[in-house]
Amino acid sequence: MKGRKLLIENANISGIESFEIYQKYGGYRAVDKALKSMSPDDVVEEVKKSGLRGRGGAGFPTGLKWSFLAKPEGIPRYLVCNADESEPGTFKDRYLMEHIPHLLIEGMILSSYALGANLSFIYIRGEFMWILQILEKAIAEAYNKGYLGKNIKGSGYHLDLRVLPGGGAYICGEETALIESLEGKRGNPRIKPPFPAVKGLWGCPTVVNNVESIAAVVPIVNEGGDSYAAIGIGRSTGTKLISACGNVARPGVYEIELGVSVEEFIYGDEYCRGIANGKKLKACVPGGSSVPILPHYLVTKTASGEDRLMTYESLADGGFATGSMLGSGGFIVFDEDQCIVRNTWNFARFYAHESCGQCSPCREGTGWMEKVLYRLEHGNGNIRDIDLLAEINKKIEGNTICPLGDAAAWPVAAAIRHFREEFEWHVTSREEALLRNYGLSKEPVTV
Ligand SMILES: Cc1cc2nc3c(=O)[nH]c(=O)nc-3n(C[C@H](O)[C@H](O)[C@H](O)COP(=O)(O)O)c2cc1C
Repeated sequence: MKGRKLLIENANISGIESFEIYQKYGGYRAVDKALKSMSPDDVVEEVKKSGLRGRGGAGFPTGLKWSFLAKPEGIPRYLVCNADESEPGTFKDRYLMEHIPHLLIEGMILSSYALGANLSFIYIRGEFMWILQILEKAIAEAYNKGYLGKNIKGSGYHLDLRVLPGGGAYICGEETALIESLEGKRGNPRIKPPFPAVKGLWGCPTVVNNVESIAAVVPIVNEGGDSYAAIGIGRSTGTKLISACGNVARPGVYEIELGVSVEEFIYGDEYCRGIANGKKLKACVPGGSSVPILPHYLVTKTASGEDRLMTYESLADGGFATGSMLGSGGFIVFDEDQCIVRNTWNFARFYAHESCGQCSPCREGTGWMEKVLYRLEHGNGNIRDIDLLAEINKKIEGNTICPLGDAAAWPVAAAIRHFREEFEWHVTSREEALLRNYGLSKEPVTV
């Protein structure tokens, strides 16, 4: 069956945020099943079989990650749900938590059981205060119904679950910065190794997983890992939440079966229904602001002329030269009227603001990129600035403790690679460029 929805099928049912209605539609069946008839290792095994890959952006296999968790006797293990969701263009976790919070809680119970954790945390973006309250209410209901706390449903397993607001910075979504922040410190990423699976929260073995990864454990336990793996193509199994925004006719959060073509996702009736206002497609950033931009001719087709699919592999086809990434599923579409230079500056501004400042290549480099892009976009740049950006890029990429530096560098490199002429046009035809972007006087904007 095509178009299966495993996560948000019931998200619009009235009252689904309450325990009763969620249970009425099959909620907590997976926990009942696991606690009655599966060992923790059985749950890990099903997740491995499912082929589920982390939905936070990197796509690392979840079952494999769980199997790395150190299990020394006498010290606790923790599961932390990463609900910090701050990447521009990505708003799928927010949708899931807001509409169907018990799905995340059920996934947390299953995943904590599988990992042998008795105290787990949901670290939620600080600005999502109202969702924190939704989750707190749902957690209280789960305690009342005996799905959290001591001896859950007579199984002998106990779990406490806490939800905590994040530190208000994008970097707090990086898993080691998140752990620092949970410990009450400034959210600076840690040097790895040691990895959290060995030394994480308060020095104990810890797994950090994305909201969607954890929620996906519910259908995996309900229907079995093989059944989940039967959806999708190759190593891209199951369904994926995609938040579509920008110039599409119908923006929103869609659950797709991995393997749907990009063409169908953009133009299909079930999904985005094409470009808004009958405009032409100019470019697309398919996986959140950190991934390389694709020009229109590489969005629906790969460089070798194959249909581009919504899978980890197909979106990356061509490497960084002609491909991009599925990333966190933040699908940003640009129509023919959008300015790539302006957008690149906008993203760069975000990364310069959000760099934690720990590593000098990122702290200084993101600021320089932002300044150079600002002057290019505001009519004060020169041709050498374009190569200067590429130089700064090379100095940042791969030279930082965490991937925020790469996330800042890749979009700029890709924008220059595919839209160099537009950057040059901002220098050679600055007045036209200013008029297009601002409709203002022909005077260059002073910095
Ligand atoms: C700067 C930065 C921000 C991140 N923000 C998030 C986030 O908001 N949510 C998330 O799940 N992962 C985020 N990640 C990825 C996490 O470090 C981590 O890989 C992820 O939570 C692992 O979960 P998964 O294996 O289920 O994908 C971020 C990474 C970086 C470098």
